[in-house]
Amino acid sequence: MSAALVVGASGGIGSAIVAGLLARDAHEVVVAACREPAASEALTKLANAHPQRLLTLALDVTDPASLADAAARLAGRVNTLTMIINCAGVLQAGALQPERRLSEVDAAALVESFRVNALGALLVAQAFAPLLDREARSVLANLSARVGSIGDNRLGGWYAYRASKAAQNMFTRNLAIELARRHRGLICVALHPGTVDTGLSRPFQARVPPERLFTPARAARQLLGVIDALGPGDNGGFFAWDGSPVPW
Ligand SMILES: NC(=O)c1ccc[n+]([C@@H]2O[C@H](COP(=O)([O-])OP(=O)(O)OC[C@H]3O[C@@H](n4cnc5c(N)ncnc54)[C@H](OP(=O)(O)O)[C@@H]3O)[C@@H](O)[C@H]2O)c1
Repeated sequence: MSAALVVGASGGIGSAIVAGLLARDAHEVVVAACREPAASEALTKLANAHPQRLLTLALDVTDPASLADAAARLAGRVNTLTMIINCAGVLQAGALQPERRLSEVDAAALVESFRVNALGALLVAQAFAPLLDREARSVLANLSARVGSIGDNRLGGWYAYRASKAAQNMFTRNLAIELARRHRGLICVALHPGTVDTGLSRPFQARVPPERLFTPARAARQLLGVIDALGPGDNGGFFAWDGSPVPW
């Protein structure tokens, strides 16, 4: 049974990707993971509409024990995964606010950002990579952000978010190298979704031209299109929503 796992599935982009995967038939089962799936209205609706194909999984990407437990539960339900899309991420939460200048940097907020955006992506891969198919074409995609590109940084600011995504990008590149040795069909990439109208970006949308602010459904369609078009030579790459490469 071929299955796709979406982590951060309660979020704006994650839930739209789950809906997008359920609308196609490439995967018999779609697994939607977040901290509290039952509390997500979007996931509850999708679960009611697709009771046979949607599995929900509770996990916290910052907690290795919760991830190990979730992976063990999943291993009993599906044979292999051919897709893992990690959409869990944080830009602001409580004391964690995008910094405009160095004086606004807060150590605890930096750590929280790294815990979710960087460590979270690596720990998700550590827990679920053993379930990836060893031979079939498979994709592990981490939702990154263009602002995590070191080469593209011309504005500064947003220390915690930028640096945690840059660290996530390094983890993605490392995973691409190591996992491809065991999983011959695996393509492991970082993806920039564009600016998407979700809770995460809402406070920062004022200067985004309307044609560059994507609905979650459109973002999901575009990202799944990029994933569909990936070939073996794209392993270890960083791509934007339109398929164009993003500098690391
Ligand atoms: N929206 C944009 O414009 C934009 C642009 C560039 C990049 N991105 C990236 O795209 C990804 C998705 O963003 P979004 O806009 O969909 O954000 P969102 O709506 O705020 O969703 C964030 C997701 O992260 C999950 N999450 C946060 N902390 C978690 C934890 N400790 N354990 C498990 N899940 C956790 C949340 O699940 P819970 O239900 O567990 O809280 C939620 O599903 C993020 O990585 C973001 O950085 C977004």
